[in-house]
Amino acid sequence: MSRPAPRPASARPSPALVTFAAEVRDGLTHAPQKELPSKYLYDEVGSALFEVITVLPEYGVTRSEERLLTRYATEIVDALPADVSVAELGSGSGRKTRRILEALCRKRPISYSPIEISRTALQLCRRELADIERISIVGYERDYLAGLAEVSRNRASGEQLLVLFLGSTIGNFARLAATRFLRDIRAMLQPGDTLLLGTDLVKPVKTLLAAYDDSIGATAAFNLNLLARVNRELDGNFELAAFEHVARFNPDARSIEMHLRAKTHVEARVGLAGLAVTLEAGETIWTESSHKYHADEIPAIAADAGFTCAQQWVEKEWGFAESLLTAT
Ligand code: AVJ
Repeated sequence: MSRPAPRPASARPSPALVTFAAEVRDGLTHAPQKELPSKYLYDEVGSALFEVITVLPEYGVTRSEERLLTRYATEIVDALPADVSVAELGSGSGRKTRRILEALCRKRPISYSPIEISRTALQLCRRELADIERISIVGYERDYLAGLAEVSRNRASGEQLLVLFLGSTIGNFARLAATRFLRDIRAMLQPGDTLLLGTDLVKPVKTLLAAYDDSIGATAAFNLNLLARVNRELDGNFELAAFEHVARFNPDARSIEMHLRAKTHVEARVGLAGLAVTLEAGETIWTESSHKYHADEIPAIAADAGFTCAQQWVEKEWGFAESLLTAT
């Protein structure tokens, strides 16, 4: 098997790599359910695979939100305070954000701060949006809260912030953690600042399972790449062929879970995490949860986190909601 050249003994792993190793170690020693954090799905390969997922016939999420933002961009922008600058948590490719930014820039010049842990996504988004007139883009390669704190601190006085949290990324948090995260966002905002929150809505289980276990195996590849990344970056030796992608609906949590299931007994080690792992045949590593919401539960969640839900736009064909929350 070909491997990247071993790093020179003198080169210290970066802080990001040390954190990755620690989180992999925690997750893979977690009993009874082994897990890996879903944020690590998005390296260069994973980000490219996710872009593929967004255009799959079975995965309606992205197209649904694009329809919403295309249809209602002007209306959304008209509901905002006059002098806003824009921060986005997890810009992705920037394709959906274009609608909002163009509508804003028609009114006045805008500063846009995408916040992303994925350098690849940050580059994609900058390339995608650079042609918009009267926009100034400053990217932050940080985690969401650290990035937002910095953006909020650097703003001019009198300038209000619009935070974009699109794509139903909030769905990756468990419900209580989602509220806690919204509270953390709120703590960095001032009254009158706004948050545009995208949430994928509850829909038939069959539709959801197909969306997360598509027929050409793109989502399976996206999921398996997480172990491939552990192998590449942390000197692991998981045999990918011993694992299969599983998507399950968890009715109690109203979430879709992605797992990697060991088809046989598996033994592996992860060098940089100082870890030896054993999985029994059939045992899984839980890699992602994607929680689904009812549009009418958003206002209460918002209130719990220090926002009021000013307006909501719902796309019914697939089932997706955009909620405009105002910090109280
Ligand atoms: C980018 C987190 C919204 O949960 O639907 C897509 C990620 N995972 N297919 C989602 C994902 C599997 C996606 N989010």
